[in-house]
Amino acid sequence: MKNIQDTYNLTPEDRTMLVMPLFHVHGLLCGLLAPLFSGGSLIVPPKFSATDFWRDFVGHKANWYTAVPTIHQILLKHPIPRNPSPNIRFVRSCSSPLSPTVFAALEKALGAPVLEAYAMTEAAHQMTSNPLPPAKRKPGAVGLGQGVEVRILNDQGAELPQGQEGEICVKGDNVTAGYLNNEAANATAYTADGFFRTGDQGRKDEDGYIVITGRIKELINKGGEKISPIELDNVLTRNPAVAEAVSFAIPDDLYGQDIGVAVVLKNGAALSPEDLRAWVADKLAKFKVPKKVYFTDVMPKTATGKIQRRIVAETMQKQDTKAKL
Ligand SMILES: *[C@@H]1O[C@H](CO)[C@@H](O)[C@H](O)[C@H]1NC(C)=O
Ligand SMILES: *[C@@H]1O[C@H](CO)[C@@H](O)[C@H](O)[C@H]1NC(C)=O
Repeated sequence: MKNIQDTYNLTPEDRTMLVMPLFHVHGLLCGLLAPLFSGGSLIVPPKFSATDFWRDFVGHKANWYTAVPTIHQILLKHPIPRNPSPNIRFVRSCSSPLSPTVFAALEKALGAPVLEAYAMTEAAHQMTSNPLPPAKRKPGAVGLGQGVEVRILNDQGAELPQGQEGEICVKGDNVTAGYLNNEAANATAYTADGFFRTGDQGRKDEDGYIVITGRIKELINKGGEKISPIELDNVLTRNPAVAEAVSFAIPDDLYGQDIGVAVVLKNGAALSPEDLRAWVADKLAKFKVPKKVYFTDVMPKTATGKIQRRIVAETMQKQDTKAKL
């Protein structure tokens, strides 16, 4: 809370409009607790409504909000009131990558600085953020460490020179000391000198701003909701018609990423994509239902018989393009 307060200079004069759900660390820490901690106030709508957002924001005199890029994009599609216009000190974006295009559109439409941040539950949310003006904010970068030291490390835990790509690692008072009931995670998540491995790949640019370039862990990031492909595979393969299932991220205009699955059916079995989606919907949260199901006779594997999600994803999407031609 203190780190977030310091980054954005939050004071009792500030009023935010809560957008993110409180079961998500983004909404809990930055949407609710940090504003209260700094003595500010917040508007809590009964539920997120893009149609009511600007009316409430202006009517109740909010001056900032934090959200995932998907929500920023939805809000941009709704007319922003003029006379009076919203009086916005800054807007924060976090939990999935904000494209430079949306960044520019937001700044133009809102007439306010858009500050992209980078966070993880393991760090009690915020790890880095672009700073407030007059300091520089950069589209496509998540800014500087906020209350944490950030290093780009190689596999062996050695720091890489500025500009070189490696794993983004953080250390600080607010980074978790470890995982309960998960010895394996405790053993692999930290370097010898106590840096927490985020599983994200990135580099520091010429000003030391962090640029995220990819995920080392293969979680699917659907508009800020992280979906474990392993969990999904496990549910899919419980279907009696399914022999093999591999889930992966597919590019998506609205969410950044959505879910694709490659499925090999058992001999003689029949199953429609709708059946499979209904199967998942019955067992997991709705946002984990795959958008696209690719049926295939053989699952692509490496020479050693290993499944590599990236390869499966590429093969399925290539076959799909061919089928469309
Ligand atoms: C988290 O960081 C803040 C700001 O650096 C510090 O005041 C606080 O004591 C830290 N919390 C813990 C649990 O270490
Ligand atoms: C992992 O580390 C944390 C912090 O040191 C500790 O509380 C926890 O018990 C450890 N978990 C296991 C399974 O060893």
